[in-house]
Amino acid sequence: MKFFIDTANLEDIKKAHKIGVLAGVTTNPSLVAKEGVKFEDRIEEILKTVPDVESVSAEVTPNALTAEEMIAEANELIKINGGDKNITIKLPMTIDGLEATRYLAKKGVKTNVTLIFTVNQALLAARAGATYVSPFLGRLDDISEDGVLLVSKIAELFRIHNLDAQIIAASVRHPDHVTRVAMAGAHIATIPYKVIEQLTKHPLTDQGIEKFAADWKTV
Ligand code: E4P
Repeated sequence: MKFFIDTANLEDIKKAHKIGVLAGVTTNPSLVAKEGVKFEDRIEEILKTVPDVESVSAEVTPNALTAEEMIAEANELIKINGGDKNITIKLPMTIDGLEATRYLAKKGVKTNVTLIFTVNQALLAARAGATYVSPFLGRLDDISEDGVLLVSKIAELFRIHNLDAQIIAASVRHPDHVTRVAMAGAHIATIPYKVIEQLTKHPLTDQGIEKFAADWKTV
């Protein structure tokens, strides 16, 4: 399983990139709004900051409701940073979102269908030609459903039917989510920097470092 970072914060992206595990970045309108920056400018900065990743997701705005409007926005987004090959157009899981996915996939543009909460939605997105599908596990857990189970069912379905779309486990809230979606067969987990940091931690690691430091003083 690969790691994407789920943020529009440049500093967090740089920190995750430095440790060498970053394969992509996902953003959404809420994450961009939190940064108080112009959407296209921030996407360009991210593309320039991490040129060696496979994908940077930029979502069409919530104003784009029809397939035509989504495609029009996508056509502007794919020009950013001189037509960067890493740009991935994130589209909502709606009839119009699927139509736009189909259109962009045929043009060779990478797409990420977002806000997936059922196996059927993932199947439709994959059949429409999505490069990535994003089931939101944390938001399912929030309403007492099982987000990891959804990821594992989608992974099984994609295996049975040889579907190429990659599963991005999204709305990841803690390290246990990461372990469980990796075991469930997600291709990617997109996670906030805070969770990446948590993944590195264990109290015995800290104690071990302290003990080595104390013992070393006696040398
Ligand atoms: C994924 O692409 C989304 O940006 C994200 O994971 C949503 O997570 P949230 O439920 O924590 O907002």
